[in-house]
Amino acid sequence: MKGVVLHGGAGTRLRPLTFSGPKQLIPVANKPVSQYVIEDLRDSGIKDIAVVLGETFPELVRDYYGDGSWLGVRITYVYQGRPLGIAHAVSLCRDFVGNDDFVVYLGDNLLQEGISGFLKEFVGGGYDAYILLKEVDDPRRFGVAELDSSGGLVDFVEKPEVPPSNYALVGVYFFKPVVFDIIKGLKPSWRGELEITDALRLMLKGGYRVGYGVVRGWWLDTGKKDDILYANSVILDERAKRVLKGEIINSRVEGRVMIEEGSKVINSVVRGPAVIGSGALIKDSFIGPYTSIGKDAEVINSSVEYSIVLEGASIKGVERLDESLIGRRAKVMRNSERRVVRLNVGDYSTIEI
Ligand code: G1P
Repeated sequence: MKGVVLHGGAGTRLRPLTFSGPKQLIPVANKPVSQYVIEDLRDSGIKDIAVVLGETFPELVRDYYGDGSWLGVRITYVYQGRPLGIAHAVSLCRDFVGNDDFVVYLGDNLLQEGISGFLKEFVGGGYDAYILLKEVDDPRRFGVAELDSSGGLVDFVEKPEVPPSNYALVGVYFFKPVVFDIIKGLKPSWRGELEITDALRLMLKGGYRVGYGVVRGWWLDTGKKDDILYANSVILDERAKRVLKGEIINSRVEGRVMIEEGSKVINSVVRGPAVIGSGALIKDSFIGPYTSIGKDAEVINSSVEYSIVLEGASIKGVERLDESLIGRRAKVMRNSERRVVRLNVGDYSTIEI
């Protein structure tokens, strides 16, 4: 069994952060989203993993994961370049996959229960393809499954205006190598992509065995800023532990807070769940629940809640920062003049004042 992690795509909905790196490397609770994906594969026993790179800073992905040995996996890189679709990305992995079964895992999808239970269903059920479905309120932004009254699969449709059900296709797909032959027969969709949803539909219509499992726990598709903040809160809620390794001076640290090595918390209150990265400085400040402060960031004389502050960013004299995503080495500070806002903001940024 092999794994294929898709790490491409333009990430337009996560600008400006995706001007300087791929969306899957944006950290949630101080760990890149795609690292949760690779760890889930590893913990399910899948150690041979292809990471498919797009055109958005592929070298940053290679620099971060290397050969994967530090995570206990073997990573092979496959270059996709332009985002021509999930099925196109999969087709590039034919040599890597060989005659093995494999799972395709979108690098921006997070699953509470992980994939190991579904992997057993796929292997035990003798399926050619096995997909995961999740009941959602608004399926129009996903691939959607049509089911008959006894729950049998009837069809799949990508981003339908009138969804045939509320069951969205989760970004995890198990396949036998026969899928490569199916993909060869695909034509680009209206959005110019080779859709994996179309490959699944052809398999279903062609009499191949397609099975599915229903995801009961949370599923997060981290495509937008609010999704990232929500994922951060969910991961912190479930996984943050109270581990205090940094220096804590004259401060109150409440609940499940991870204060990493080499960080300093001075004259401040930190209320969990939260994480303070290594080398970070928190001074005369309040860090509220559901906040991740990145490595070497500083928060001085400020209050930050339900936010992600990335590596090396600096927040000074800001009364209350809430629901915010602050990029690497960005600076947010109060000036001494009243009613003056002075900005030096990157393209596609959003500022609410
Ligand atoms: C892709 C798939 C879609 C699936 C979704 C899950 O959408 O095409 O079927 O429901 O991932 O995250 P995209 O991210 O390309 O819009």
